[in-house]
Order: sequence, then C-alpha cells, then structure tokens
Amino acid sequence: MISAKTGLCCIIGHPVTHSLSPQMQNAAFKKEAADFTFMAFEVTDLYKAVEGLRAINCRCIVVTIPFKVEVLKYADQTDDSARKIGAANCLINKNGFYKATNTDWYGAIRSLEEVTSLKNKKVAILGAGGAARAIIYGMKLKKADITLFNRTGKRAEKLAREFNLSDCFQLNEQERLKNMDIIINATSVGMAPNSDETPLNDGIIQPNQIVFDIVYTPHITKLLKMAIKSGATAVYGYRMVLYGGIKIFELITGKKAPIKIMEETLKKNLHG
Ligand code: ATR
Repeated sequence: MISAKTGLCCIIGHPVTHSLSPQMQNAAFKKEAADFTFMAFEVTDLYKAVEGLRAINCRCIVVTIPFKVEVLKYADQTDDSARKIGAANCLINKNGFYKATNTDWYGAIRSLEEVTSLKNKKVAILGAGGAARAIIYGMKLKKADITLFNRTGKRAEKLAREFNLSDCFQLNEQERLKNMDIIINATSVGMAPNSDETPLNDGIIQPNQIVFDIVYTPHITKLLKMAIKSGATAVYGYRMVLYGGIKIFELITGKKAPIKIMEETLKKNLHG
C-alpha cells in the first residue's frame, strides 16, 4: 500500500504512454514488498522535470526518447557506461545526488547471453544511433568481434573510429552478413506501424546464426519471422526491456529482481 514513506520512481519521455516500465516495476515492487511506486510522466521540458523530481526526492528517474542524451547535462555524476555511450536511461538518487547510468547495453547483452557466449563471436550490428552505441559498449566489454552496418556509411565510419572497431560497411552490403555468428538489428526498421519492413533481404540469414531484433513492437517482427523461417535462433526485443528493467529494479531496491513476475507482466502487456 502507498504510504507517506513510499519512494517515488518514474519514467519520463515524450511520448511515454506506450512504456511498459510502470507495470513491470510495480509488479516487482509488490512481489518483493519493496516500498516504492513507479509512475510515467509525459514531459516536454526536461530541465524543469528533473529539477521538480529532484525537489521531491524522486528515488529513480528512468529516461526515454527523446531525452537520453540531453539528460546527461542534469545529472550530478555520470558512470562509465553513460559516459562512453553518450546517453543515459536512468538517474539513480544516492543521498540526493543523481547518478546517470545506462542499462540498455546490459539488457541487450543479457538477452543474447541466454542463448550464446559472446567472447570472440563475429557480431554484426545494424545501425549507428543511440541503441547501436549502447550495444557496441556492451559487446566490447564482452570482447566480441564487432562489424558495423548502417544505411548511411559515413555515420558508421565515424562510430567505428570512435569505438575502435575493425570493420564497417553500408547496410546494402548484405552478403557480408552471411559469415557472422550474430546479427543484431539496432535500427528502428520494422517497428510498428511499419511492421512490414525489414532491414535484411531474403536469403541472407543462415540457419546457424542468432538474430536479435531490439524492436519489440510488434513482439515478433518481420526480421524475426525471417530468422525463424531460415532455421536461425531468434532473440526477441522484449528480453532487452526485461533485463534492462531488472537492472533498474536492483539499482532502486538493492534487492535481487523477481524475474519471473517481471517477465510475466511484460509478456501480458506486449502487442502482436
Ligand atoms: P536510436 O537512438 O533509437 O538508435 P537514431 O539515432 O535515430 O535512433 O538511429 C536510428 C538508426 O536506424 C540509424 O542507424 C538509422 O540509419 P541512418 O544513420 O542511415 O539514418 C537507422 N534507420 C532508420 N530508418 C532506417 C531505414 N528505413 N533503413 C535503414 N536504416 C534505418
């Protein structure tokens, strides 16, 4: 039950109404009898929102589109992940000081580690935006061998230089994907309402490959359908949301997250 002692946590963004974080975190708080509550707030002025939440001692501010980069300006401290990725999705309150961190990389890595080890694996990352940056950060920690593919070649080159990657190509050089162990879609291609789109042509995915799509609306994207049809292993985007959420729960409460209830709640609220 919410009382005068209950700690407020929230997600802020624009738009934010699609977020599944409130359902997932509140189910976990209830299960663990952790005295917190989790809300979503539609925000247009990020500075005012963070300062207002700071004034009421909000325990954790989860940050989503379009504020993940801008929010770094308003944090009191920034950890290694947020600094190197250049974006944060969480400000955690430690004695009134807000520390910016990024759990997106953790969500992606743990989703893949459910099905494979990553060390020395040939990993193709499609995309060069914020999501790709988070996944590159995680893959480097795991010592994977990363090749970047992006529609705009110049953007891929810049990113590959920054993270010291050996190779990068334009997304239309798809034959090069055939000898990869893992293909990760870190673009927004295939996201509803454009769910009939896919970043890959037919005949590229091989049966021995693992295909991970960070898009989770729809739940089974066209890319994942292609992967399943090719006999490849499909890793669903909602796993990244789940494991990112688990990390956030643990940062808030200091307790081990109740994965099962979080997974059930997330799945119940997914579409498609
Ligand atoms: P995010 O921070 O969510 O990753 P972003 O910075 O806008 O978002 O990056 C989106 C990524 O999706 C980019 O890599 C973009 O490719 P470009 O760099 O060429 O713009 C990629 N992307 C978006 N729409 C695409 C499409 N229709 N085909 C191929 N790639 C696309």
